[in-house]
Amino acid sequence: MTSPFVTIRALAALLAISSSLTYAQTTTASADTTRYTSRSTLKLARRYVGQDFMNQFDFFTDDDPTQGFVNYVSKSDASSASLVDVQSDNTFIMRADSSSIATGRGRDSIRISSKDKFADGVYILDMNHMPVGCGTWPAFWTVTKDGWPVGGEIDILEGANGLPLPGSAAFEATTGLSNTSLPQIANVAALHTSQTCDLAGGTYMSGSQGIAQCSAYVSGNTGCGVRMTDPGNGTYGGPINAVGGGWYAMWRDLKNSGGVYVYFWPRTSPNVPEDVRNFNTATTNTAGWGIPAANLSVPSCTGDFNNHVIVFDLTFCGDYAGATYASTGCPGSCQNFVRNFPAAFSEAYWSVNSLRVYTTSGKPASGSGLSTGAIVGIVVGVVAALVIAGLVFWRYKTSRRRRQENQIMMADDPSAIPEGPYTFLASRKPRLGPTTLAPGRTARHLLDGETPSGSVTPAKGQPSGGGIYGQSLSGSGSGSDASIKVPDTSTFIAPHARDSSMRSSFSATAQSSPAKTPAKNSFVARAAAKEQTPTKPLGGSSWIG
Ligand SMILES: *[C@@H]1O[C@H](CO)[C@@H](O)[C@H](O)[C@H]1NC(C)=O
Ligand SMILES: *[C@@H]1O[C@H](CO)[C@@H](O)[C@H](O)[C@H]1NC(C)=O
Ligand SMILES: *[C@@H]1O[C@H](CO)[C@@H](O)[C@H](O)[C@H]1NC(C)=O
Repeated sequence: MTSPFVTIRALAALLAISSSLTYAQTTTASADTTRYTSRSTLKLARRYVGQDFMNQFDFFTDDDPTQGFVNYVSKSDASSASLVDVQSDNTFIMRADSSSIATGRGRDSIRISSKDKFADGVYILDMNHMPVGCGTWPAFWTVTKDGWPVGGEIDILEGANGLPLPGSAAFEATTGLSNTSLPQIANVAALHTSQTCDLAGGTYMSGSQGIAQCSAYVSGNTGCGVRMTDPGNGTYGGPINAVGGGWYAMWRDLKNSGGVYVYFWPRTSPNVPEDVRNFNTATTNTAGWGIPAANLSVPSCTGDFNNHVIVFDLTFCGDYAGATYASTGCPGSCQNFVRNFPAAFSEAYWSVNSLRVYTTSGKPASGSGLSTGAIVGIVVGVVAALVIAGLVFWRYKTSRRRRQENQIMMADDPSAIPEGPYTFLASRKPRLGPTTLAPGRTARHLLDGETPSGSVTPAKGQPSGGGIYGQSLSGSGSGSDASIKVPDTSTFIAPHARDSSMRSSFSATAQSSPAKTPAKNSFVARAAAKEQTPTKPLGGSSWIG
C-alpha cells in the first residue's frame, strides 16, 4: 500500500521534473550594443503614489473570474477594515484579511484596476513586498477592459503559493508544510491572446521560455510564458520580500519591435538604471537597461493587444493556486487552509512605493472602448443636437411665412404693426416719451434695461449731475459733457448692443477677456506639482543608494 503522503511526494517530484523540462534554459546571447542604442525616449504619462491608488483605480467587487476563494471588497469596506492604507511616507498597502476565519465567497481581499488605459510604453512598479502564503495567487498585470480574451492580457508579475521566509510569523502559522523548498520563487511573465499566437522564441533574455502558445483557448489558458530565473535571490515571493522587493518593469513595444519585455531588479541590485530607481524621472529609455529577464516576442500577433487597464489583485486557490497547491508542499486542501488559518496570511499584502507609466506622447492611450457613461453622454448629445436643429428649422419656416404675410399685409396698410419676433418691442416703443430721456439717450437705451430715475428734468443740453440712469451707468465727473455717464461695458449683454459704439465696446470686451482655461486633470496637476517640489524618496532609508 502506498501512503497518500508518498503519492503526493511522487507527484511533486514528477511536477518538478516536468517543469524543469518545460522551462529549458535558453542560451543568453551576448549583449549586442547596436540593439540598445536606437530606442526612443518615453515621457511620463502617469505616476501613481500613495492616495493615487485609492483615487485613480477602481475597486472590483464581483465574484472572482478565476474561481478563487476570495471576497473582493469595495473601497469603503477596504478602508474601514484597514485592508488598504496610505502610510505617512506615501507607501501604499493593500492586504488580505489575516484576522478572521473566512466565510461566504472566501477571504477578504483587494482587486483594483486603473481608470486610465495604456498601450505601448514602459511600466515601472517599485514595490517593497508582494503577497505570500499557502493558497495565495497575486498578480500585477494589464488586461483589455471588455471582451477578454479578445484584446489580450500581459502578466508582469504573477505566481501561486509563494511562502514567507522561515522564521516569520506567517511561516510559523503555516504548519504542516511537506517541503519548504518547493514554493514558487521564480516569476513567470506571460501573454494571453484570443487568437493562435506563437512566442517567437526570443533569445535575448535571462529567463527561460515555457509554453510557446499564447492563445487562451490552448493548454487550459496557461498562456505563453517565460520563467524569470535568478538563482541567487529569486524573482518572486519570499526571497524578494526578504531583500525589500525591488523594481519590476514591463516594456510594451508591440508596434515597433513586436514584443513585450519584462525586467526585474531586486532592491539589492547594483545595476538598477537611474531612470528606474528615481521615481521623479520625467523620461525613460530602455536602451540602458540591458537584456530583459523575459523577452515575449510576438511579431505575428501584435494586433491581438488593445488598450489595457493595469490591475493588482490577490486571490486564493482557484484555477492556478488551487491546482498547484499540493505540489508546492502546502498542507491539506487549499480552501480549507485559506478559510481556517487567518494568521498564515499576515504576509499576504502588497506594499508599493510607486507605479509609473511612460509613453511616446506622455499621455495614457485613448480608450479603445468607450465607457457606458461616455456612450450615454454621446447619445444624449446627438439627440439634443437633432432636437435643436429641428426647432431652428421650424422657427425659420414659421418666420419666413410670417415675413411673407407681413409684406402682403403692409402692402395693403403701411401703418400696420408687422408681426414677428420684435412685435412686442416695436409696439412698446412709444410708451416712454422722449421728454424723460437725457441728452444722447434714445428709446433704444431704455429698451436695453436702463430706467429713468424719475425726478430728473434735465436742463437743456446738460444733465443735472448724479446718475440719471440706473445701474448700467458708471463713471464720474460733474457738470459739462464729462458728466454724461458712459456705459460700463462689462455689464453689457451682447444682443442688446445695437448701436455702433456699444457694439465696438462689446467686441473689445470680448476680445480682451481671457480665454477660458480648461480645468486641469487634478492628477496631472498634482504630478506636475510633485515634479517641481520633489518629495523625499519613498520607502525606508535602507535601500536608498
Ligand atoms: C523538497 O523538494 C526538493 C525539490 O523537489 C527536493 O530536492 C528535496 O529533496 C525535497 N525535500 C524533501 C525533504 O522531501
Ligand atoms: C527579443 O528577442 C528577439 C528575438 O530574439 C530580438 O530580436 C529582440 O531584440 C529581443 N528584444 C530585446 C528587448 O532584447
Ligand atoms: C542577491 O542579493 C544579495 C544581497 O542579499 C546581493 O548582494 C546580490 O547582488 C543579489 N544578486 C543578484 C543577482 O541580484
